[in-house]
Amino acid sequence: MKSKQTIFRRMLFAPGLLLAVVCVALMAGSASAETVKIPHTPELYKETPTPLLPVQCGQCHVKQFKNLQDDGRHHQFACQNCHKVFHAYNPRKKNYDDIMPKCKNCHLTPPHGDKFTDCLTCHANPHTPRNVPVTKHLEANCGNCHTAENDMLTKFPSKHTKQGCRACHDTDKHGVIPTCFKCHEPHIPGQTFEDCKTCHNPHKPLQIMFHGADTKVNTCQACHAEEYDKWSHTPSKHGTVNCARCHLKHGQIPECTMCHGHPHGEALHKRTPRCLDCHLDVHNLPVKRKKEDKKEEKK
Ligand code: HEC
Ligand code: HEC
Ligand code: HEC
Ligand code: HEC
Ligand code: HEC
Ligand code: HEC
Ligand code: HEC
Ligand code: HEC
Ligand code: HEC
Ligand code: HEC
Ligand code: HEC
Ligand code: HEC
Repeated sequence: MKSKQTIFRRMLFAPGLLLAVVCVALMAGSASAETVKIPHTPELYKETPTPLLPVQCGQCHVKQFKNLQDDGRHHQFACQNCHKVFHAYNPRKKNYDDIMPKCKNCHLTPPHGDKFTDCLTCHANPHTPRNVPVTKHLEANCGNCHTAENDMLTKFPSKHTKQGCRACHDTDKHGVIPTCFKCHEPHIPGQTFEDCKTCHNPHKPLQIMFHGADTKVNTCQACHAEEYDKWSHTPSKHGTVNCARCHLKHGQIPECTMCHGHPHGEALHKRTPRCLDCHLDVHNLPVKRKKEDKKEEKK
């Protein structure tokens, strides 16, 4: 069947071809312009093309699409927002850098100040903008961006100051935070990294922070076992007062009058100015005995 059809088509075509040859031969003598014949098809241009979607660009640019898909973060928008011009690289014109998107078109002011304007030296891949590799250049500048941490380490010298940023923030990826347990044991079993940070800032570890009634005082026992033990077992009401409500800062000794004023007559306080001459031990006030005495009196 097929071969019959083709033969039939050829029979139709042959006279057509003959006619064309004759026409060309006739026109050869005239001066009018000649053009190949292509049917005029304006209907092909009625629609406006829709721009390629990232997933379509990604059919060819597999790597760039995958980068944006996995780590594009806030750069996950249409490629053409950045690539206003593309497929325009011409080695003769050496225009590669010219046609590539410029950060400053959108990041109107440099986010890290005027010292850091060569964005791609750190943001090596614009399709994974947050993945900044730790290079020598970045290492040299930790303190220039993180001035707060840098200032703490210099203003409050400790053994951490000598360590340097990279002793702790030691990963190849920028911005990773180590836990204290990488280098230290906890004071008491069961302490968490979150606990550590309530009292210590790693960039000024000796400036101990207390938090009044919220201080986790079981920590104190690691170094002040005697006081902690007395306080834990005392029948007096001081046993319900958090260590850090009296010791507002680490190492500070409070005055009794801070909370009690002068409760006895003026004469008594003049005669015996030191409260503990009578009350003996602030961590274990001799009160229980007194209470029992009172009970006995009542009996
Ligand atoms: C936030 C802006 C931004 C977006 C969005 C973006 N690009 Fe890029 N792209 C750039 C910049 C800037 C460069 C030039 C990098 C350089 O010079 O090292 C680039 C380079 C390229 C290159 C050249 C090869 C290379 O990787 O350096 C290709 C191909 C490319 N992009 C494709 C895409 C495709 C496809 C998409 C969308 C799926 C896309 N880009 C989305 C900013 C962007
Ligand atoms: C059919 C495959 C194909 C599609 C679809 C495609 N590209 Fe390309 N693109 C190429 C090829 C091939 C090159 C040249 C070789 C290279 O650089 O990888 C190129 C180069 C590029 C370059 C770098 C050189 C230049 O001249 O700009 C960019 C940027 C780019 N494409 C962006 C895009 C964007 C954006 C899209 C979607 C809007 C897209 N491409 C869609 C095949 C494709
Ligand atoms: C077409 C505009 C455009 C271009 C060009 C562009 N960006 Fe962005 N970029 C954005 C927008 C929009 C955001 C999101 C900002 C926001 O949420 O505040 C962003 C966010 C970022 C972020 C943070 C990403 C995140 O998710 O937290 C980084 C880093 C970044 N851009 C770096 C760059 C660098 C480097 C370049 C040049 C290579 C660049 N951008 C080029 C528009 C752009
Ligand atoms: C010296 C290295 C360096 C240079 C140069 C640099 N950046 Fe950054 N940038 C970083 C680092 C590191 C981050 C933090 C990334 C992270 O989240 O881990 C960052 C974060 C950002 C963010 C997110 C800001 C935020 O606070 O969340 C934007 C946006 C950004 N850069 C844009 C730019 C642009 C635009 C330029 C050029 C004008 C630029 N950067 C130059 C290193 C650099
Ligand atoms: C160009 C400025 C710049 C430089 C240089 C820089 N950083 Fe950053 N870094 C940033 C920005 C911006 C952020 C904030 C990102 C965010 O908000 O998540 C950041 C975040 C961090 C974080 C905190 C991440 C978190 O989860 O909170 C650490 C830790 C850090 N940087 C350490 C370093 C160290 C160590 C260096 C030196 C090797 C360094 N940075 C160099 C800009 C910089
Ligand atoms: C002894 C270890 C150590 C050293 C040295 C150190 N850091 Fe840190 N850094 C940490 C720890 C642990 C955290 C987490 C603190 C937190 O989550 O509150 C941290 C957090 C940070 C943060 C995030 C702060 C925030 O509020 O989210 C930045 C930025 C930072 N460090 C920068 C630096 C820089 C810059 C240096 C050097 C100048 C440095 N660090 C030195 C251990 C260290
Ligand atoms: C990368 C290791 C490392 C990490 C992480 C680290 N430290 Fe240290 N820290 C040290 C070293 C080393 C010393 C000095 C030890 C010595 O010489 O005995 C030290 C000393 C200290 C000191 C005593 C400082 C002084 O000057 O006497 C305190 C307090 C301290 N660290 C608390 C912490 C806390 C809290 C964390 C977590 C927030 C932490 N450290 C995280 C390495 C680290
Ligand atoms: C309730 C507050 C508190 C908590 C929570 C706390 N610490 Fe401490 N830490 C202190 C005090 C107070 C010192 C003594 C500082 C001094 O000698 O002046 C200290 C000292 C240290 C020292 C110096 C070396 C030593 O043992 O004398 C290191 C290291 C340390 N702490 C690590 C940690 C770690 C790690 C955690 C979390 C597991 C943590 N701390 C939790 C209060 C606390
Ligand atoms: C009601 C207030 C108060 C409470 C609660 C308190 N203290 Fe004290 N602490 C004092 C006073 C006042 C002194 C000074 C005693 C003196 O002069 O003999 C002191 C002294 C100390 C001393 C110095 C050594 C000594 O015995 O003289 C240490 C260490 C101490 N307290 C630790 C703690 C710990 C740990 C806790 C919690 C377990 C705690 N304190 C609870 C008020 C208090
Ligand atoms: C890692 C050990 C450690 C921990 C934990 C610790 N301290 Fe201390 N504390 C010390 C050292 C070391 C001194 C200084 C001792 C000296 O100077 O004789 C001190 C001194 C004190 C003093 C002053 C003592 C005096 O004789 O003047 C008080 C009060 C005190 N600590 C209370 C506390 C309280 C309250 C806690 C818990 C919230 C605590 N400490 C946790 C190690 C620690
Ligand atoms: C941070 C505040 C604070 C400080 C400082 C303080 N106390 Fe108290 N004290 C209290 C509280 C709270 C009570 C319980 C009051 C109540 O429940 O009625 C108390 C109770 C007492 C009682 C009665 C005990 C009982 O069990 O009935 C005596 C006695 C006393 N304090 C003596 C002292 C002496 C002496 C000092 C100084 C060495 C002192 N206090 C320092 C807060 C404090
Ligand atoms: C001469 C001995 C002596 C001195 C000094 C002394 N007290 Fe007392 N204080 C007592 C006796 C005894 C009681 C028991 C009285 C009672 O139960 O009624 C007492 C009771 C208290 C009570 C409990 C009151 C109540 O209502 O439950 C407080 C609080 C107190 N004293 C605080 C102080 C303070 C603060 C100082 C120093 C400024 C001080 N005392 C000095 C002997 C003394």
